[in-house]
Amino acid sequence: MFGELNGAQGKVALVTGASRGVGRAIPVSLSQKGCNVAINYSKDVGGAKKTEELCKSHGVGALVVKADVSNRSEVRNMVEKIITNFGRIDILVNNAGILGKTSNPIEITDEDWDRVLNVNHKGAFIVTQEVLKYMKKAKIINIASIAGKGEIRPNVGAHYSASKGGLIALTFNLARHLAPHVLVNAVAPGSVETELIEDADKESLKKLTLTGKIAKPEDIAHK
Ligand SMILES: NC(=O)c1ccc[n+]([C@@H]2O[C@H](COP(=O)([O-])OP(=O)(O)OC[C@H]3O[C@@H](n4cnc5c(N)ncnc54)[C@H](OP(=O)(O)O)[C@@H]3O)[C@@H](O)[C@H]2O)c1
Repeated sequence: MFGELNGAQGKVALVTGASRGVGRAIPVSLSQKGCNVAINYSKDVGGAKKTEELCKSHGVGALVVKADVSNRSEVRNMVEKIITNFGRIDILVNNAGILGKTSNPIEITDEDWDRVLNVNHKGAFIVTQEVLKYMKKAKIINIASIAGKGEIRPNVGAHYSASKGGLIALTFNLARHLAPHVLVNAVAPGSVETELIEDADKESLKKLTLTGKIAKPEDIAHK
């Protein structure tokens, strides 16, 4: 998917949840293609600054922008700041995501359900809506998960699966409404070696993959 963004030279990309993991690998990969990047985070400013440093080492413009993707006014302010700085947004990667506190269906609280759906699903929609105000010809890529396509992992709860299934449905809907000027796609990775799965049993996850391996964030960014 990101390999297709070869025309990214001189463009501007916003990547949400870019302070670590997959969200760091994507702007770094885009910056290697000459793309300027806006690096979103909600809490980890140190991680976001590290991503900025890595991107700037490739000679592109990079801007760290704070916003909880589920918070409309924070997202609006973030997008306005990016437009003030770069004048446009050509590529949006909705990557920010959380796993939730438990995968046990009996133990998922209303609060945990709402938080996971608000960040992973509604958050992607809020950012998309705010960015669309400024996008003309552009690409949107949503980072979903195989959990949203019915694959089950022991570390994944119903709220996470529902959020990613919803994100895939949202991708199809927006692709139809926004084509041909804005192209909308989703990437649905299996397990990736990041903090998101730090508490999971890696050996059992490896057995569920065809390759016997857990992917690295760069594997997703280079796809
Ligand atoms: N790792 C996997 O096995 C796997 C598999 C399939 C799909 N995915 C998906 O890939 C994406 C990236 O996951 P990852 O594994 O790289 O996770 P990660 O290492 O935990 O990183 C998550 C990122 O999202 C940010 N974030 C969390 N809540 C946010 C919010 N409300 N607003 C803005 N940013 C927020 C975090 O930044 P702050 O700490 O600053 O908030 C962080 O930069 C997620 O959508 C995830 O569901 C991951």
